[in-house]
Amino acid sequence: MSHTMNTTRKKIALIGAGNIGGALAYLALYKELGDVVLFDVVEGVPQGKALDLSHCTPVFQGSVSIKGTNSYEDIKGADVCIVTAGIARKPGMSRDDLLKTNADIMKSVAKGIKEYAPKSFVIVVSNPLDAMVTLCQRETGLPANMVVGMAGVLDSARYRAFLAEEIGVSPSSVNAMVLGGHGDTMVPVRSHTTVNGIPVSKFIKADRLTEIEKRVRGAGGEVVALLKTGSAFCSPAASALEMAESYLKDQKKVLPAAAKLNGEYGYKDLYIGVPVQIGAGGIEKIIEIDLTDAEKKELNVSAEAVKELVTLL
Ligand code: NAI
Ligand code: 2OP
Repeated sequence: MSHTMNTTRKKIALIGAGNIGGALAYLALYKELGDVVLFDVVEGVPQGKALDLSHCTPVFQGSVSIKGTNSYEDIKGADVCIVTAGIARKPGMSRDDLLKTNADIMKSVAKGIKEYAPKSFVIVVSNPLDAMVTLCQRETGLPANMVVGMAGVLDSARYRAFLAEEIGVSPSSVNAMVLGGHGDTMVPVRSHTTVNGIPVSKFIKADRLTEIEKRVRGAGGEVVALLKTGSAFCSPAASALEMAESYLKDQKKVLPAAAKLNGEYGYKDLYIGVPVQIGAGGIEKIIEIDLTDAEKKELNVSAEAVKELVTLL
């Protein structure tokens, strides 16, 4: 099989060939977003997954290629790097328990990106998310608009899915955003949650909404407790790929994502989940929305939790 990469197509480097990395590769090929390079430190795994995935392409009627590798040289010139390298949560583990191990891994990943793909748009998925995206930007030295963290799209998708199920409408009709850090302090922004523009409070009573929001905060853990051997991977992959696609196709989608704030929402030099516009310029805008006093307080609690975590780096 030829592993030749086409220079006119986009190149997507997936750093980490575990559960999310594999799902990302599958989706990227299915959507024909570009040629895929699947990197991992474990020998055989990225190559084996790439070989398997390459046999999907004829079935997908596709033309893009995939290569599995243990060498950073192969990510050279990537347009997008999506980082899922690290260890995932096991039952009883918090995202923060992962900090030390994943920080060492992130440093090595950042070195590879800095050397071979310094012009890429980098989407960090590894946990603890807010700390890992902070470290990635710090270690790569890439501009802040080119390094973003994925959590908000996933947490919002969970909120949207639960609300849609409760109301009995299509999840695509539910608009909602979860902001703040990717942890127990995340902030489902009820004041901006609608069913095609109709406030969610028209459909669900306040007490029940509070219960659903609690479930959103614990949804990652709910999946971990059921799977026992890892964490959610299909929805994180779909979420990161939506961000990658918006960059590659200059879609300018407004999505919740961890961005480095420069005074917005009252914070400076802090990565936290906020609404951003993603297009060919990376994070092209950070959008400030009006929050209720209670939501502002919750965002503040979340920001303080992220700040504390980042000091441990
Ligand atoms: P996984 O364990 O299936 O895959 C991780 C991969 O990273 C493994 O294949 C491992 O060999 C690889 N790896 C380890 N050290 C590496 C290094 N130095 N360089 C390159 N690769 C390396 O885990 P999964 O399920 O794919 O999750 C990946 C990460 O994403 C975890 O940290 C997890 O907690 C996080 N996550 C984040 C979410 C978010 O919303 N931001 C949602 C779900 C998971
Ligand atoms: C999740 O939210 C564990 O962060 C991971 O599924």
